[in-house]
Amino acid sequence: MMAKTVTLIDNQTGEKYDFPILEGTQGPDLIDIRTLYGKTGYFTFDPGYGATGACESKITYIDGDKGILQHRGYSIENLCDKSNFLEVAYLLLHGELPKQTEYAQFHAEIMESRLINEQLQFFFRGFRRDAHPMAILVGVVGALSSFYHGAFDLHSEENRLLCCRRLVAKLPTIVAMSYKYSIGQAMLYPREDYNYTDNFLYMMFGKPEHKFKMIPEVVSALDKIFILHADHEQNASTSTVRMAGSTGANPYAAVSSGISALWGPAHGGANEEVLNMLKSMGSVDDIPQYIKRAKDKDDPFRLMGFGHRVYKNFDPRANVLRQSCHEVLDALGMKEQPLLKLAMELERIALEDEYFIERKLFPNVDFYSGIILEAIGFPSYMFTPLFALARTAGWTAQWKEMHEDKTSRLCRPRQLYLGETAREYIPMEKR
Ligand code: ACO
Repeated sequence: MMAKTVTLIDNQTGEKYDFPILEGTQGPDLIDIRTLYGKTGYFTFDPGYGATGACESKITYIDGDKGILQHRGYSIENLCDKSNFLEVAYLLLHGELPKQTEYAQFHAEIMESRLINEQLQFFFRGFRRDAHPMAILVGVVGALSSFYHGAFDLHSEENRLLCCRRLVAKLPTIVAMSYKYSIGQAMLYPREDYNYTDNFLYMMFGKPEHKFKMIPEVVSALDKIFILHADHEQNASTSTVRMAGSTGANPYAAVSSGISALWGPAHGGANEEVLNMLKSMGSVDDIPQYIKRAKDKDDPFRLMGFGHRVYKNFDPRANVLRQSCHEVLDALGMKEQPLLKLAMELERIALEDEYFIERKLFPNVDFYSGIILEAIGFPSYMFTPLFALARTAGWTAQWKEMHEDKTSRLCRPRQLYLGETAREYIPMEKR
């Protein structure tokens, strides 16, 4: 069979150029333009990289039109229903679901790595008490590189895996410590009798002098939130981790740059913004006024938790969380919580509104995760750190894949230069 190609015709010169078409196992084919500049002298222009495939990947597949999200071929609904976060982290890193012995070993290694070097605790004291925990995470996760840089060997598969496991294991500890620091409570050490997610809840909300009450529905809902945020293909923060990692940078520093990218309100900061928006609304009567503002082109306000760059029909993660949201609020006896009522009413009104229907703006994962996390007791400024904790599984898997991929290169986009052309320097006194 003849290889598929696409022909580019330069209308200025009449010259024709053939480019190969690359076929994935699912999703649209891609035009391989790696030789474009060499053959034609042109670059491509694609701000935001919306039409650019920057890498080969076998980790996550998204079909935004159909609302499909799969990790290594398993649907997100299936994983949320049957799996747990640590198993999903293993799947992302290794490509296959673990056998019992493999899971037991992975679990033991993660549990073993949850502690951080005692010295790292002193880093926290350098931050103001009111520092945003994302700022603390950027600093402290980046600082992990100073503890492990000497022994780091990018070319050893075992060493790469070790870095990934350490990051997945330590993020809950660092996130919980940043919270305890912000409220002036004692930082707690991980407990041997708890697993990944329950231990995180304990480190967040436990106190040394109290017995901690674990609520299974809460553990399960949080674990689902972690699964739902574990990876999402080449999003802004993952691309940032890949870009930083493509220089050969230390993986802890690369993940720290991903945390920075995640912080923004157009990405990981959105669920915090959802809660802030709901709280500022106050009552159901205020909803029409906010909807009006969201539609007004002269008003920068957007309905937070609605819309997605990739999902244009529905966000499959939002569907899972919608159900989970009701379960948790039931278990906590918070069904009549005013904020949830407000959120449900906002969802109903927005879904019936022409503006939102026409633009295919549906509630995204952040809309529901914000409500669940608030009900569990997380302050809204901790929402994005939780996202970072979960996404560390994806960042590390993508970073590892990049270093094992023969086609990957140093990331270095080009530009359309619109500045001044060459000119002479004029001495200051003559300007
Ligand atoms: N409220 C009101 N109008 C909106 C919203 C919104 N939340 N989102 C998009 N629109 C409108 C735009 O104004 C635009 O209208 P126009 O065609 O009349 O100009 C149209 O819908 C398309 O919007 P774009 O900005 O082109 O859509 P894009 O795909 O670039 O944006 C984004 C996606 C950034 C997520 C956007 O929908 C948004 O800002 N949503 C709110 C923030 C949010 O919830 N982010 C979380 C994303 S999920 C995640 O990161 C896990």
